[in-house]
Amino acid sequence: MRFRSDSEPTGTIAFAANTLPALISQHIHDSDISSCRVKAQPWEGYPHTHILPELIEAVFTRQLRRFQKLFVLEVGSFSGGSAIRMARKALELGITSDKFALACADTWLGDTNMITNVYQDGRVSSLIVPLRAPSIVTFKSLERYAVVHGMMRPAVIYLDSAHEPMETLIEISLAWNLLAEDGILFGDDYDWPAVHNDVLNFAYLRNLTVHLYKSQWLLHKREGIATPADRDLTFNSKLEVKTRVHDRVTLAKFNSSAALGEALQ
Ligand SMILES: C[S@@+](CC[C@H](N)C(=O)[O-])C[C@H]1O[C@@H](n2cnc3c(N)ncnc32)[C@H](O)[C@@H]1O
Repeated sequence: MRFRSDSEPTGTIAFAANTLPALISQHIHDSDISSCRVKAQPWEGYPHTHILPELIEAVFTRQLRRFQKLFVLEVGSFSGGSAIRMARKALELGITSDKFALACADTWLGDTNMITNVYQDGRVSSLIVPLRAPSIVTFKSLERYAVVHGMMRPAVIYLDSAHEPMETLIEISLAWNLLAEDGILFGDDYDWPAVHNDVLNFAYLRNLTVHLYKSQWLLHKREGIATPADRDLTFNSKLEVKTRVHDRVTLAKFNSSAALGEALQ
């Protein structure tokens, strides 16, 4: 897990020169063995962060008009690229910590490129609450906190985790249950087939419009929205979805985040 509080010292541990820990640390922290073409830049976190500041602004501005407090949940945070952008945007919009919290969930297990390609020092604002858990556990635990303890539900959920067929559909379904009424669920990598298909599968089941801005997808949990009784999906024995729903879902594509913001009014 890469987040640090602002008050914690940054930088690598100073091992005594020519010791074995110094050598091992040098290999792990100072060598570049990543096979990714795009490398992390200092203070910018994961180099494949796609969430766009103007989209965050459209979503946060809209939700601030509807919610007194903005509880945002991100699932799939890794080294905090998208989280830092969201926290920075909240600060830029003048939202203070009495009105804003960003919970960031991740297993922080990563994969080889992630481990080797993250930058060494993170900047974390006091707005961020890390939550080390798999996505399903995250959604179910927060659901339980909401039901049993009356914890507020997130007004915004950003999903950038599994990217696998069916797993994404389960994540979206659980995120949707947890999301507050009038909340916004959005996520990265619509151009990934698994994400694309499962967003469409879920939108079909719930008769939702999929809003698209660049590679980001967005679903709005409008108040009073009814689940159609006539929708279902069929699966084969490998749990692959057999029903083709792509041409039965309404897509709304936006070239500007302002137009997207207006459509969400
Ligand atoms: C693409 S990275 C996230 C990047 C981050 N949102 C950003 O923009 O900087 C995907 C992350 O999802 C996490 N992840 C994958 N499957 C997960 C799961 N089932 N539960 C929780 N986290 C998961 C991985 O550990 C990884 O850190």
